[in-house]
Amino acid sequence: MPSALSLQGLTKRYGTLTAVDRFSLEVERGTVFGLLGPNGAGKTTLIKMLTTTMRPTEGDAYIEGRSVVSAGRRVRELIGVVPQENNLDRYLTARENLVLHARMHGIPSRDYVRSIDELLELTGLAGRRNDFPDTFSGGMQRRLVVARALVHKPRLLFLDEPTTGLDPQSRRALWEHIRTLRSEMTIFLTTHYMDEADSLCDRIVIMDHGKALVDGSATELKSQFAPPHIYELEVKRDAERYEELFRALPVVTSLERDKEAFRIVLKDEESLKLLLDSIRSGDIRKICTVEPSLEQVFLDLTGKAVRE
Ligand SMILES: Nc1ncnc2c1ncn2[C@@H]1O[C@H](COP(=O)(O)OP(=O)(O)O)[C@@H](O)[C@H]1O
Ligand SMILES: [Mg+2]
Repeated sequence: MPSALSLQGLTKRYGTLTAVDRFSLEVERGTVFGLLGPNGAGKTTLIKMLTTTMRPTEGDAYIEGRSVVSAGRRVRELIGVVPQENNLDRYLTARENLVLHARMHGIPSRDYVRSIDELLELTGLAGRRNDFPDTFSGGMQRRLVVARALVHKPRLLFLDEPTTGLDPQSRRALWEHIRTLRSEMTIFLTTHYMDEADSLCDRIVIMDHGKALVDGSATELKSQFAPPHIYELEVKRDAERYEELFRALPVVTSLERDKEAFRIVLKDEESLKLLLDSIRSGDIRKICTVEPSLEQVFLDLTGKAVRE
């Protein structure tokens, strides 16, 4: 049985810029796969090649065993695509957008009428089926694009930054919907939201400069890359003096200070006592542990400089 998705040395160059650099990857069926990376990392370029809207410079990729280079038509039947920019037809109603998509896939009307009604219901758009997309909120437009991508019952669904620009309620509603799909198809999404990847994805690859940096579940990445002994500490006075003091402690592996508040990474659990012993009693306002986050892993791997 072929993997849902297989990338073999997939490469895209724009002139001298290598946007995707000999990318290889296997994704098993039924996975919710998350591709993470800062702006400009190459995520959209990668998705465009996988969804046959852009030809690779080198290498190939296979969707359920079919080459995106030489079997594009068959690949397009197997996949559903939610592009980074909504590309709804604004002169068609919500329902007509879905009908047009069904016809473009050669589905006879006896087959699509019911499934389109169901999709409109599932995405909470049934009451607005005869309205034009321009009258929809961002979240509703996004849900309509997702519904449209599902009309022809794809085996693999691609979502390029599905929730960028949405308010927290709409993001969560869309997550819920994506979760209901996971039993029926393989899902490949890109995002730069760590919480999104953390809550939705079984497997995460963080990419930058066209290459994969790490690969694993959210839990694996956190335990592998984020330091486990992080503390937030606030003192009542003498912050500068304490900063000097903490920096001199060999058990402190990293330290950041913002006024009276410190973020301290310690070598191990036993180091905490040494740290506390160095503070005068009564000088501590607050101390707590910090759970390692995927965001920390991401920043450690891709740096803190702002991109594009
Ligand atoms: N059509 C294009 N022509 C030239 N350069 C491009 C083009 N599209 C993207 N790039 C560049 O390729 C790199 C990867 O872009 P992109 O795939 O959009 O990244 P992401 O989706 O991760 O933000 C960026 O440096 C971007 O500026
Ligand atoms: Mg992008």
